[in-house]
Amino acid sequence: MINIALLGCGTVGSGVVKIFNTSSEMIAQRLGDLVKIKWVLEKDIDKCHLAGIPAAMTTQDFSVILDDEEIDIVVELIGGIEPARSFIIAAMEKGKHVVSANKDLIAVHGKQIFDKASENQVDFYFEASVAGGIPIIYPLKQSLAANQIQEVIGILNGTTNYILTKMSLEGRDYLEVLAEAQALGYAEADPSSDVCGLDAARKIAILSSIAFNSRVTFYDVYVEGITSISAADIKYAGELGYVIKLLAIAKEDENKQIQVRVHPAFLPKAHPLAGVNDVFNAVFVRGDAVGEIMHYGRGAGQMPTASSVIGDIIEIGRNMMHNCCGRIGCTCYEDKKILDINQLEAQYYIRMTVKDRPGVLAGIAGVFGNNNVSIAAVLQKTSQEDKAELILITHQVREQDLRDSLTVLQGMSIVAEINNVIRVEGTDRDVY
Ligand code: NDP
Ligand code: HSE
Repeated sequence: MINIALLGCGTVGSGVVKIFNTSSEMIAQRLGDLVKIKWVLEKDIDKCHLAGIPAAMTTQDFSVILDDEEIDIVVELIGGIEPARSFIIAAMEKGKHVVSANKDLIAVHGKQIFDKASENQVDFYFEASVAGGIPIIYPLKQSLAANQIQEVIGILNGTTNYILTKMSLEGRDYLEVLAEAQALGYAEADPSSDVCGLDAARKIAILSSIAFNSRVTFYDVYVEGITSISAADIKYAGELGYVIKLLAIAKEDENKQIQVRVHPAFLPKAHPLAGVNDVFNAVFVRGDAVGEIMHYGRGAGQMPTASSVIGDIIEIGRNMMHNCCGRIGCTCYEDKKILDINQLEAQYYIRMTVKDRPGVLAGIAGVFGNNNVSIAAVLQKTSQEDKAELILITHQVREQDLRDSLTVLQGMSIVAEINNVIRVEGTDRDVY
């Protein structure tokens, strides 16, 4: 018998209870042993009632769980930094294995938790922390371990993917779609963690650390959200053969330097990630041996996330049955340099409003030319009164050079406004 304690009986915790209620026999058959929820720690005992947990199994005092020697696995589903971190550390110090879905915590304090797990010879599994129901952490650590991972590109936030999909399909503006998503319960009342890219940044920090065997924290990730994307940008992207997606990108170059960034990007319509719509998530991986692969599914929600949590519990149970804990621990054994965003080389889409008169285009081209920014395409889209909207796509250029050009352009009387600048990704694939 493997005894677990559940910390938190909210959305994911109650999903875990549901799966145990319906499938405990199947889990026991697959594992070869029974798994039982012995304790549930929850502030709001009514939530436990609703999930069908008897009052005798609930507690609001973590020390009850800590001091119960029968508890083998602590499943942390309360979220946030504290007290989740202290609970996990204390459980490990008592020799208990831990499962967590807590991306906020792992993206910042992952090293401390892994060190503690190793020190105490316990397992720490966290599949649900990235892309909810999609298996990606275990595959990166295990099934793809023969590969030098070159890039991981994810659509890792369902809320923003839903908003961008609606904007693309219905031609509507950001604020209108956000309000609708909030009314439907798809976006939170305070959507900032999602729409500002922070949620995706936490997830890509976790994936980068695993993919490149070098610790990357949330603070190392360059982040831009989707709040500046307009219906006009989406329309022009479509006309040029692209979709706009919020991408979480991690790449390693031939000098073992890493770039980790989250921002909206133009993506060719034929890219495998371009067809990932609504609340769905996907992770595209390129390895030197395997080539390109993509994992797709639901990146959040009660049952998909609980599916990953229980997968981790079963995996730890298997390790326990064979007395081989710590089989897959921390995989960060290198210390690679993380590149500053200004060192990035990329293509860019630029939308600007300029005076519509002779010599303006030449003046703008001159500024880009003086700063080593090569233009691949220019379109003049609309002309109102004496103003024109210019769409430019650059060749591959250095971000610092592009920023220097834009600073000069912003100070010129012929430029009314730089409306938006969006990076173009995914044009370097061999196969389309
Ligand atoms: P919820 O807020 O729905 O559930 C957390 C529960 O824990 C709440 O009932 C909360 O009570 C309770 N809780 C918080 N702190 C304590 C405490 N100190 N003692 C006792 N109970 C406590 O969150 P979710 O289930 O949505 O998320 C859980 C974790 O899973 C988070 O780390 C989240 O990031 C992660 N996750 C969630 C996904 C999802 O789709 N929901 C997807 C992937 C990961 P109260 O509300 O009263 O504070
Ligand atoms: N808020 C996240 C999303 C789900 O919209 O994808 C939890 O990580």
